[in-house]
Amino acid sequence: DTRNLQAYRASLLHFHADPAFAEDAYAWHADGLLVVENGHIKAAGDHAQLIGSLPQGVEVVDYRGKIIVPGFIDTHLHFPQTDMIASPAPGLLPWLENFTFPTERRFGDPAHGRATADFFLDELLRNGTTTALVYCTVHKESVDALFEATTARNLRMGGGKVLMDRHCPDFLQDTADLRESEDLIKRWHKQGRSMYAITPRFAPTSTEAQLAATGELARAYPDTFIQTHVSENQDECRWVGELFPQRRSYLDVYDHYGLMRPRAMYGHCIWLDDADFARMAETGAAISHCPTSNLFLGSGLFDIARADQAGALVSLGTDVGAGTSFSMLQTMNEAYKVARLKGSYLPALRMFYLATLGAARSMQLEGTIGNFAPGVEADFIVLDPRATPLLARRTAHSNTLEETLFALAMLGDDRAVRATYAAGSLVHERTLP
Ligand code: GUN
Ligand code: ZN
Repeated sequence: DTRNLQAYRASLLHFHADPAFAEDAYAWHADGLLVVENGHIKAAGDHAQLIGSLPQGVEVVDYRGKIIVPGFIDTHLHFPQTDMIASPAPGLLPWLENFTFPTERRFGDPAHGRATADFFLDELLRNGTTTALVYCTVHKESVDALFEATTARNLRMGGGKVLMDRHCPDFLQDTADLRESEDLIKRWHKQGRSMYAITPRFAPTSTEAQLAATGELARAYPDTFIQTHVSENQDECRWVGELFPQRRSYLDVYDHYGLMRPRAMYGHCIWLDDADFARMAETGAAISHCPTSNLFLGSGLFDIARADQAGALVSLGTDVGAGTSFSMLQTMNEAYKVARLKGSYLPALRMFYLATLGAARSMQLEGTIGNFAPGVEADFIVLDPRATPLLARRTAHSNTLEETLFALAMLGDDRAVRATYAAGSLVHERTLP
C-alpha cells in the first residue's frame, strides 16, 4: 500500500548538531529525496540512492531547483497582536499601554479570537513557520480559539493563557487562582499536536502570589512549557528592581518562583548578566532572541556570543506584534545585524539551525520536529532561491551553500516560501504571479 507514502525531489538541508559547536553539523543533498510515510519522515538522502527502494506507483513531487528544509520554529510571538503589528510608540511600556492592552481586550469574544487565529496561522504558514510558541490573552477563550484553529490544521503548536493580576487595565486582570490555566492544560496539552505553555506575561504584571502559584502549576505539570519576557527594556528592568528589591536580578525573580526549568522559554534576555546566563545553562531554560522586536522598540542588542559562551539554549522569535515581520528569514536578517553590532558573526547555516533544530532542542522537542531524522514529524518547507528577480540574480552565482542561504536570509521573506507541509500534508502553496 503506497497511499500513505509520498516523496519530494529537491535539494535537502537539515541539521543534527549545532554548527557553532560541531563540524559536520548538517546534511546537504544537492539532488535529494525526502520520503514521508504517514506524516513522518521515512528517509532523507540522495535521490540516486533512495529512488530505487521507493515502491512502484509512489508519485515523486518535483521541486528540483528548490531547497527543502524543516519547517521554521518561532519560539516567541503573540497571536492577538497580529492586528496591531507596526504600531508606533516610543518604547515597550507606552506601546503596551497605548496599543497592546486595548487590542487584547477584544479576545474575550470567541468569534474574534477564532477569526484572528485563522488569519495568524495563514500568515505563519505562508512564511514557512510550522511550529510556534504563542501568547494568547488573559481570556481562556483566546486559548480555545488558538488550539481549535491549530487542531483543524493538525499543526504542532504551543500556547497558553496570559497571567497578569496587577499593573494592567482592570479589563485584562486575572487573579492568583490558576484554575483556568489548569483546566486549559487538561483540555489541550498533548491533545493531538497541541502543547500548553504556562504564560505569566512578565514579572511586573504578576503579584508574588501569582508567581508562586505559577511555579506550583509548572511543577505539577512538568512537561508543559513556560513562557515569559525577561530583561527586554531598561525601564522595565528598573521597574522590576523596584518591585522585587530582594531578588538578585530580574531573571532571579522567575528562578525564585521555580520557573526556570527545561521547556521554559524566556523572551529577549538582552540585559542579563553573566550569572543569569550561567543560570540559563544550568537549568535548561531557553532564550528566544527577538531581533526585529528589539530593534523596533529600541529595547537593545542581544549578545548571542555571551549566551553561547555560557552554553545556554538559544532560538529565534519574531515577537509579533512588537516584531515587525512573521518571516523567520527576515528575523535571521535582523539577528545577523544585531550580532554584527555586538562584534560577533552569525553564519547563515547557524541561523538556519537556530530556526529549526536549535529551536526544537530549546523546547526539548528533538526527535519530534526540527530535522529529517527517521520518525520525526514531517513538517517541512520548500524554499525558492529564485523567488524574486533580485534573489535569482544573486543566487545564480552563489559559490557555496552558505552564500545561497545567506542571500535567502537577507533578501527572502514569505515570497521565498514556495510550499509548506505539516505532518506530511500541504498546508500552504504560494500562488505564482
Ligand atoms: N512585555 C510584556 N508584555 C509584552 C508584550 O506583549 N510584548 C513585548 N515585546 N514585551 C512584553
Ligand atoms: Zn513578546
